[in-house]
Amino acid sequence: MSAVGFAPGKIILLGEHAVVFGHPALAAALPQGVRVELDAAQSFEISGVGVPVDDPRVLVAAREIGAAFGITGARVRVTSELPTGGGLGSSAAFAVALARGVAALAGRVGCEPEIEEAAFIAERLFHGRPSGVDHTTCARGGVVLFRKGPPTRVEQVSVARSLPLVVASTGKARSTATKVAGLARLVEEAPARWEPLVARLGALAEAGAKDVERGAIAALGAKFDEAHALLSECGVSCPELDAIVDVARKAGALGAKLTGAGGGGAAIALAPEPGPVIEAIRAAGFAAHLAWIGSETA
Ligand code: MEV
Repeated sequence: MSAVGFAPGKIILLGEHAVVFGHPALAAALPQGVRVELDAAQSFEISGVGVPVDDPRVLVAAREIGAAFGITGARVRVTSELPTGGGLGSSAAFAVALARGVAALAGRVGCEPEIEEAAFIAERLFHGRPSGVDHTTCARGGVVLFRKGPPTRVEQVSVARSLPLVVASTGKARSTATKVAGLARLVEEAPARWEPLVARLGALAEAGAKDVERGAIAALGAKFDEAHALLSECGVSCPELDAIVDVARKAGALGAKLTGAGGGGAAIALAPEPGPVIEAIRAAGFAAHLAWIGSETA
């Protein structure tokens, strides 16, 4: 018996970190993703690229996902089209792709809620106490406005006009759990100082969803800029992310920000004329590519 599973990567357009505190986040599936090929076996063996197959948590995650569908083992080969460097949901895409593959191996169809549940078990192993926005976006696709539960609320956002998004990688690995814990500490120690700022990040995500629905991309770009400033104030940016954002704006982007946990990983820039923005980011020493968000392929 063999089976395959695929799931796209994700980007957070607005609301990262705020989502952990119960505020909304606006996130989108990327055209690229993670694919797994499975052959039935006695126990789980994982090989390939795109996920840290040597990390023991990957095997534990596979066993947990397997258990959710009554599968005790499979030889799993992983391939990933996601740029390396993190921030683009590679762990969440892997978890959803594997859950889809395992469900297929178990002969289960139409079980998306169980697939999301199993993928969330894996995400908790990788990231501590994640909000769930990453794997939910990878599983649902398109653009979503997400609020963590209980009960989790997920609205699919219609896209009036595909978003020309330049995705840039710092190439610097980061830990989501550390960044989330750092902000949680600030909020706990001085809520009056930090809570309004976190709430504003969530409000930008909610308002940004309306911009996406209306095709108001200049307004969305301005929200990217405000969100990046707030996230920097929260201590989750880094010099590389600030450099990408600065270079992208100077090259004509309507707005730019870090995406995901920060401290490394990736940044995004809204760029109706993406060529000069991509060139400028590459000239500054970072990888960059164009992703159309909300097009048929995302
Ligand atoms: C990471 O992609 C998004 C964060 O908000 C963490 C989470 O939601 O679990 C930083």
